[in-house]
Amino acid sequence: RSIKSLTTSPSAHILRRGYASEAVPLRKVTVLGAAGGIGQPLSLLMKLNPLVSNLALYDIANTPGVAADISHINTRSEVVGYASDAELGKALEGADVVIIPAGVPRKPGMTRDDLFNINAGIVKGLCEAIAKHCPKALVNMISNPVNSTVPIAAEIFKKAGTYDPKRLFGVTTLDVVRAKTFYAGKAMVPVAEVNVPVVGGHAGITILPLFSQATPKANLSDEELTALTKRTQDGGTEVVEAKAGKGSATLSMAYAGAIFADACLKGLNGVPDVIECSFVQSTVTELPFFASRVRLGKNGVEEVLGLGPLSDYEKEGLEKLKPELLSSIEKGIKFATQ
Ligand code: NAI
Repeated sequence: RSIKSLTTSPSAHILRRGYASEAVPLRKVTVLGAAGGIGQPLSLLMKLNPLVSNLALYDIANTPGVAADISHINTRSEVVGYASDAELGKALEGADVVIIPAGVPRKPGMTRDDLFNINAGIVKGLCEAIAKHCPKALVNMISNPVNSTVPIAAEIFKKAGTYDPKRLFGVTTLDVVRAKTFYAGKAMVPVAEVNVPVVGGHAGITILPLFSQATPKANLSDEELTALTKRTQDGGTEVVEAKAGKGSATLSMAYAGAIFADACLKGLNGVPDVIECSFVQSTVTELPFFASRVRLGKNGVEEVLGLGPLSDYEKEGLEKLKPELLSSIEKGIKFATQ
């Protein structure tokens, strides 16, 4: 895995592409649930990422087809599909980043918490395997309810003696992606320039976009800011209803998941000032887990950044979300420890 060995390999010229003097380190990314609605486009986007050298695609159904298909794309990474429980260990071995979009999605009328009974068990099993086969990997948890699945993962890793809070992330990037898109539309500013932190958790009112800190600045009214906040909080439901029973966000989620995994890889590779919002173990509030801006580095979380100044509306939203978020966190902990 050393950089030195890379320079002697036949594909060293590919690995160095785009970098003047430094080789790009070998990085293995494993996607668990790779053949699903999110898993497929996310695997495609990871195949396009030049920071990835090995892409392991694992699912309990339909993996061979997805892996064969993606493996024909002429980019850096080598793709291997893993199709059964017996192959999960091999899929995880040596992984630097494990992305988990395994589990059932919402149907109209469901909350993310309605997925708990099925997805909690799936996440538990996958995290036990991670603890065994790649305890140092950065885990990107996409499976819902993220507010509970991240605490479940933490407890499973604690039981196995491998827990490192710097390496466990709830992926809330889609909330940020939505907040940026909706803000740009309302504020009439170029979307590519927009930044909006989104804090709290990843379900309904626990999603708290901080539009008072959004840049470029715009003079939006209180009514407009309230509407933007609600639309961001209900963004997932907007997609669930539009898909009318055929699942939840998959394409925008794959994009968001790819952005977050890319940030993790950049951090691991020593790129400075990589900052993304994520749901992590936190002391920013009195809750044990909380989403806020996080600086990523060679060990995962380098620094959990504070909330910054909040408007009165945001302060109120913060107090309102705490009981619901805490109860989802406790539900996850209870499931994993009982
Ligand atoms: P999907 O049903 O299309 O795909 C899920 C995949 O997981 C399937 O291919 C299935 O075979 C696989 N799977 C099930 N059990 C597994 C196991 N034990 N090991 C490996 N793979 C397993 O669902 P979709 O739409 O891809 O959603 C996946 C999850 O992502 C859901 O829990 C959904 O709620 C969540 N999600 C999270 C978002 C976020 O912002 N964090 C946004 C959108 C969805």
